[in-house]
Amino acid sequence: MKNNLIICCSPISDSCSNKIKNGLIGILKKRDENVEVRDLYALQFDPVITENDISSAFQGKYREDVMKEQEYLKNADSVFLIFPIYSSAMPALMKGYIDRVLSQNFAYSYNSDGSINKLMTGKTISTFSPMGAALKYYEESGVKSAMDAIFSATFLFRGFEISSINYFGSDNREKMLSELENLI
Ligand SMILES: Cc1cc2nc3c(=O)[nH]c(=O)nc-3n(C[C@H](O)[C@H](O)[C@H](O)COP(=O)(O)O)c2cc1C
Repeated sequence: MKNNLIICCSPISDSCSNKIKNGLIGILKKRDENVEVRDLYALQFDPVITENDISSAFQGKYREDVMKEQEYLKNADSVFLIFPIYSSAMPALMKGYIDRVLSQNFAYSYNSDGSINKLMTGKTISTFSPMGAALKYYEESGVKSAMDAIFSATFLFRGFEISSINYFGSDNREKMLSELENLI
């Protein structure tokens, strides 16, 4: 059976992010697939990487909270990241999760010749991001392309296959929410 991992990062209980989270849970369960949900705010996940975290990762050692999240990732076939757009980027908490959990010697490693081992190969990932602005504005200004490029680089570097990068702007949000099933 397919194992899905939803990682949600939203500080607001009735947020669009939480609507997306609940929608995805419903759809995946209806498909009789396994679903694990990690809510970074509810977990009070520490996003701050330390000098010790970075040096320990060289030896494949991580803090307890990170190892727990890495277990969820090991078991996942598909990963769904849900986060709002803050300052034309992902929120600091989501970024800190990626920096700490999808870390060196867990999600990627370097060979002696400098080439990269992409350790998340075989897993798919998709993102779901509410935003305040109209998506059309972000497309016209080039910011959507910039965000797409940063998000893609973050995941491709680690070997994920990107299923989709989705934005829920003021102009397409209701349509996207009503068509959630077709996005996954
Ligand atoms: C700190 C902060 C920064 C934000 N920056 C942006 C931004 O750069 N672009 C944008 O379109 N919306 C921005 N927003 C608006 C949110 O993306 C928008 O309200 C979104 O719908 C929030 O999703 P949620 O309902 O899941 O919390 C920002 C909101 C906050 C709180």
